[in-house]
Amino acid sequence: MNLIQQLIDRAKADKQRIVLPEGTESRTLKAADRLIADNIADIILIGDPEEIRDLASEYQLSHIRQATIIDPECHAKQEEYAQLLFKLRQAKGLSIEEARELVRNPLYLACLMIKNGDADGEVAGAKNTTGNVLRPALQIIKTRPGISVVSGAFLMFVQDHSFGSDGVLVFADCAVMPNPTDQQLAEIAVATAHTAQSLVGVEPRVAMLSFSTKGSAQDPLVDKVIEATRLARALAPELLIDGEMQADAALVPFVGDSKAPGSPVAGKANVLVFPNLECGNIAYKLVERLGKAEAVGPILQGMAAPVNDLSRGCSVEDIYKMVAICANQAITNKSLNNK
Ligand code: ACO
Repeated sequence: MNLIQQLIDRAKADKQRIVLPEGTESRTLKAADRLIADNIADIILIGDPEEIRDLASEYQLSHIRQATIIDPECHAKQEEYAQLLFKLRQAKGLSIEEARELVRNPLYLACLMIKNGDADGEVAGAKNTTGNVLRPALQIIKTRPGISVVSGAFLMFVQDHSFGSDGVLVFADCAVMPNPTDQQLAEIAVATAHTAQSLVGVEPRVAMLSFSTKGSAQDPLVDKVIEATRLARALAPELLIDGEMQADAALVPFVGDSKAPGSPVAGKANVLVFPNLECGNIAYKLVERLGKAEAVGPILQGMAAPVNDLSRGCSVEDIYKMVAICANQAITNKSLNNK
């Protein structure tokens, strides 16, 4: 059975409440209809209820009537959420009047619902930029205890199954942190390993990528990756993390053997950690387009509750899969919180 099907089955077995703040966006509505029909999540749509009902009837989406619809302009918890937002952000200078205005923004409202325990996860971004989706999540939901940085991973399904774990690799950070410090890069590596464990179900072999392998080049950029590797190993000594190494040394067994002999990761990496966002974002798009890989993400990692961003070019299928992934993250989160 393929990985996405496994994630869908796990979501169905323990249904989570996923909020979709872009409730009047056509692809979002079509995905919501299929998600409800397939029993994958309890869907909460934010948007004008009349507009949602009209669109559902125009697109012949008969399951939308089973969704919970929240009107951002008028609902029972409007003042409660405004007070919550004010409490969370008053130290940053937010006034109660500003909080009352912000709760009408569906992207803020969705995060407040999660923070208040009224939803388990959020998927948005079909019509909003990454920055606009992330900002309220970073301000309201924040990071998991012990983690300081949120980053974005992609599940990459490549055609050649000799790479990664049967053709599946996890790439990060491809979406959030423009220029991480060595400490932040170390945290990104550990978070990505955990994503590989929890979503792909494999033992992560994490390559910390650079343009140098084991001292073949000297540069402050290389030093950052060397230090991040040391810090990541200290953070999670149980994980297989190695670097610095070039992409070919990470992926190709004979190159790994010759450039990094004895490495537990070189030649067989299934998690690739890029030194900065430029590298990560460019790399996943090149592998997707030139290598004809399927890229699923960005899957945000490190957040206290799952919030996932979509590309504005996303399809109905992308939203459907991302909700299943978000539900899986919510299930994992709850089990970690109960430990
Ligand atoms: N992890 C945890 N917290 C963070 C992070 C992070 N990575 N980044 C910012 N924060 C927190 C800050 O600590 C701050 O918290 P506070 O207000 O409680 O003190 C808050 O978020 C806002 O921080 P700013 O530095 O003001 O962040 P800003 O709002 O300017 O931007 C953002 C944050 C939106 C994530 C920005 O870094 C960004 O736009 N990143 C690039 C996103 C992007 O365009 N990606 C590429 C496209 S995605 C794709 O192609 C798939």
